[in-house]
Parts: sequence; structure tokens; C-alpha cells
Amino acid sequence: MSNGKIEIFDTTLRDGEQVPGCKLNTTQKLKIADKLDSLGVDVIEAGFPVSSPGDFKSVKEISRLVKNASVCALTRAVKKDIEVAAEALKHARRPRIHTGIGTSDSHIKYKFNSTREEIIVRAREAVSYAKNFVDDVEFYAEDAGRTDNEYLARVCTAAVEAGATVLNIPDTTGYCLPEEYGKKIKYLKDHVKDIEKVTISCHCHNDLGLATANAIAGIMNGARQIECTINGIGERAGNTALEEVVMILRQHPTLNLHTNIQPKLLYALSNLVSREMGMFVQPNKAIVGANAFAHSSGIHQDGVIKNRETYEIIDPADVGVTESAIVLTARSGRAALAYKAKKMGYELTKLQLDIVYAEFLSYADHRKEVADTDLHEIMSISFKNRAIA
Ligand code: KIV
Ligand code: ZN
Repeated sequence: MSNGKIEIFDTTLRDGEQVPGCKLNTTQKLKIADKLDSLGVDVIEAGFPVSSPGDFKSVKEISRLVKNASVCALTRAVKKDIEVAAEALKHARRPRIHTGIGTSDSHIKYKFNSTREEIIVRAREAVSYAKNFVDDVEFYAEDAGRTDNEYLARVCTAAVEAGATVLNIPDTTGYCLPEEYGKKIKYLKDHVKDIEKVTISCHCHNDLGLATANAIAGIMNGARQIECTINGIGERAGNTALEEVVMILRQHPTLNLHTNIQPKLLYALSNLVSREMGMFVQPNKAIVGANAFAHSSGIHQDGVIKNRETYEIIDPADVGVTESAIVLTARSGRAALAYKAKKMGYELTKLQLDIVYAEFLSYADHRKEVADTDLHEIMSISFKNRAIA
């Protein structure tokens, strides 16, 4: 693995599927897993097998199906969870067990009624137990975002000594600032024994809208895996969005970081996940939202019609969106009106455009948007009233 390669660990089918109302059946999970594999993700977290017979079945079927990516199953630091996960992953070409435990003082005290030292013992035991079943064991320190760095380094050292191949540093509650999360990763790089033998992973939640920024800060400080979901779905405010990470790295080549993802497949997969989960994508969602490549104000439309790059940093075709959209509203100008009219077969002279524009504005002022069908009507009114043909 070159040092600039960022592994994409997709958890749409696990953390993403935890969203209330988004539960998927095995057939739906298989459909999405197949597309994730074609997209080029490195790891598919397929589920939490001990949680239900349905999830066990999904992980098992996904393990049989997936050809390229590693298939990962989540467990708590509990022997039974690990055994069930190993059984579900039996047919995977590249199985990974993802085990771990809460490490913040709040988790240690309230979830486990335990002590810091006891948690280290449990972390070590979980990783070494999982190693009996698979070579690839990822350890997560839940709530690492709020865990004291010196203690976190001790937990991580124990996990590495026990054989962990990946160290996941989740900002479970989405609390960290990017600089703080980046420093945490750097601290672990500097203080965890044998850290160079393992991959550090960023798993960031979006409670303060910083999930993607934090993951990027993580990789800029030495992490080499990002855990993310399609459309950024996940517990509460969601997880780092896969499409955002991929496009940030592509649009900023000076970072010298890259992924294996085929970006042209992003939009179709975003639609598939949204449809199957019944989870609508907010229109202003970066990269895949309905408005991500739509322009409605006259100033922007004029620029985009002259040259797309004036207001777009990504070519929509690069992420599988057919083209930029010019949306006619009362804020649109003559350039956009002429452009849309031409696309619909109306070549207007300057005088004709002035007349149609006046009609258009009085129409648009009473509507949120002027659709193509409305524009046909505006044309026919203008032509009839003013005999401009
Ligand atoms: O957010 C989190 O801490 C998690 C872990 C279970 C990896 O999802
Ligand atoms: Zn999570």
C-alpha cells in the first residue's frame, strides 16, 4: 500500500442502517453491497451479526457475494459476539472482525461500571480472542473523541500487542474540532508502540457538522482509513459522507492522497441507498443533493452558461450527474431564459427576449420555480399578446 492510499471503509450497511426507519432486509443489503464492491470500497462493514438472526444472515450472504472488498462484522468485546461474527464471515474472501469497547471516562463509569485498567484487559482479550478466527482484526476505542489521549494510547498499545491490524479512533459523539481530532491521531502516531505496523482509522460522527472535516484532519495527521457512509447517513446526525471524502481528495491533488473509488458511480449509488432506505437526500447535500449542480440566480447562471467552472468546482459528469441544471426563478436573468428557451427550440432575437423576459418575470414572481412546461406557456402568451413571432 502506497503511503498516499486512503482505505475506504464503508459502514452504510451497519452504522448507516442504524438510522430509525432505515432497516434493510437481506435482499436490499446484498444489492447495495454488490454496488459498493463495484464502487471500489476497500472494506464493507456488513452488519452486527449477534444483534439479530436477520443481520447474521445478511453478513453471511454478503460474505459469499463480495469479490473484492474485505467484509467486516461488528462485535462488542464479548466472546459470544466474536464467535457469531466469525461464523457469519466464514465464507468471506477477506474477513475482518471489528471489535472494541468504550474508553472515555463516561463510558467506563456509566456503561461498564468499570475502571481504566479493567477496560485495557478487556480490550486486549477481545482482540486476541478474535485473532483465533481471523487475521484481520480492527479494534475500536468507542468515544475516543472524548478519551484522554494518554490513556487512549495505552489502550491502543494493548490492542496492537494483542494483534490488531487496524486501530479505529471513533469520535462517537461528534464532539471534536478538526484540529483536536488531528492532534489526537498525531499523538497516537507518536505514542503507541509499533503503530507503524497498523492502519489508523477515522470514524467520525456529524453531531456538530464536522464529521468530514474531522476525518480529513485525521488523514492529514497520518490515519490511512476513513469510515464513512453513502449520503452521510448514520446514528443521529450521521457519519462522514463517503462521496465527500472521495471528492475532497480528488479536488485537492496537492494532498497527495487518493482512494480506489470510481467517482462516476457515486450519484447512482446515492440514489439506490436513498430509495432502498426510504431516506430522502437533502437537496443541498454536497456532491449528491438535487441542488449540488443547480444554479438559480441570474449572476451565477450567466457565469455558468459562459463557463461552467465560474461557479462549479466539480464537473457533474465526474460523479455521474448528467449535467449542471439551470433552474429558472424570479432571480434568473435574460441569459438563463435565452439558454433554456434555446434548449426547448426557441431562438429569440434581442427584442423578442425582452418581451418574453417581462412576461417571465411577472409569472416567476408568483412561483418558486418556472418549469419547462411553464416556459412553453409563457412563450405562447408572449407570442399571442405581442405577435412577436
Ligand atoms: O461511533 C462509534 O463509535 C461506532 C463504533 C461501534 C465503531 O460506530
Ligand atoms: Zn459510529
